[in-house]
Amino acid sequence: MTHRVLLTGATGFVGGNVAAVLADRGVELLCAVRRDPGPTLPWPWRLTDLRNPSDITEALAEHRATSVLHMAIDNDLQGLYRDRRAGFDAYVGMTRRIVDAANAHGAQVGYLSTDWVFDGTGHLVDEDEPVNPLNLYGLFKAQSEQVVLDRADGGFVARVGGVQGRHLTQPAAPRQQDCGFGYFVLSLVDALSAGREFTVWQDGAINGVASPVTAAEIGARLLLALDRRADGILHVVGATAVERQELARETCRVFDLDPGLLRTGPVPAGEMLPAPMPYDTSLATPRTDEVLGVRPFGLADQLASLRRELETGLPAPLTLPSSVGGAS
Ligand SMILES: NC(=O)c1ccc[n+]([C@@H]2O[C@H](COP(=O)([O-])OP(=O)(O)OC[C@H]3O[C@@H](n4cnc5c(N)ncnc54)[C@H](OP(=O)(O)O)[C@@H]3O)[C@@H](O)[C@H]2O)c1
Repeated sequence: MTHRVLLTGATGFVGGNVAAVLADRGVELLCAVRRDPGPTLPWPWRLTDLRNPSDITEALAEHRATSVLHMAIDNDLQGLYRDRRAGFDAYVGMTRRIVDAANAHGAQVGYLSTDWVFDGTGHLVDEDEPVNPLNLYGLFKAQSEQVVLDRADGGFVARVGGVQGRHLTQPAAPRQQDCGFGYFVLSLVDALSAGREFTVWQDGAINGVASPVTAAEIGARLLLALDRRADGILHVVGATAVERQELARETCRVFDLDPGLLRTGPVPAGEMLPAPMPYDTSLATPRTDEVLGVRPFGLADQLASLRRELETGLPAPLTLPSSVGGAS
């Protein structure tokens, strides 16, 4: 059976990489988008209002979807605090509508979640560790996870963190270090390649340790999860827990860049998020390894694949196709 996937969030950073990998591996994709993405989006799309349950149901039916991968996100943390009710609906309400529509249609659900559901006091935390979010983003993600775990007839939660890669639908967008790990590696590569210094932020109040994985690799592992009809919680991360400074040094080594241009310093004014953040969000993968039948790749491999992506312009997942587009 060929996977027929309805994908939310395909115009975003992770969603675009996931779409590229799935399409390349023979999945029939339909991207549920909220506005006309213009002529450059390379995958089939459909305007879909994720606030409207019947529109989601129609999208699933039109595509004859066998699964829905939900990775759309309102990424404005400050906005969540300004309007909690709207934020709750954009996370938990939307997830519930998608799960209900998928149940009615007989489709499997894959929900992309985050290492920020934890409080950051652990290290290499297992899939069955109880969550303890520190901010509204982590809380709403944890509540959305629970919707999938309790309510979906078939489906899984895939927690990711320390995601590295290129934004495929906005390749010209500036890549910047932030209080999480997103874009850390390529913002460093951009700076050092241009001969500029790069200041690694050091502050116990930001996300300081994670298990980096490339966005393309997430796509390959989500396909495995669909192949295997995974359920429960998966940790889709790299095998290496790393601090920011170590990540910076390892990036210099793999990309042949001058570590002499690295500096450390505080988070610049205005860049700190207005909420507590988890420090160590590294994840372990014992259950995921069993469910997917593969072990995660370490940091050097993740960085080498990112370098290949930068050189070729193509996503370079490390996990190879098990059964191209095929689910038994
Ligand atoms: N990036 C990371 O480092 C990271 C780390 C951990 C977990 N994650 C998880 O990965 C997922 C994707 O994150 P991302 O960083 O790729 O996000 P992103 O780049 O901000 O993309 C967000 C996507 O969601 C869409 N979207 C937002 N609100 C929507 C709505 N109301 N209806 C329909 N679509 C909507 C956006 O569409 P428009 O293009 O129309 O705005 C865009 O396609 C999220 O679940 C996030 O929690 C990401």
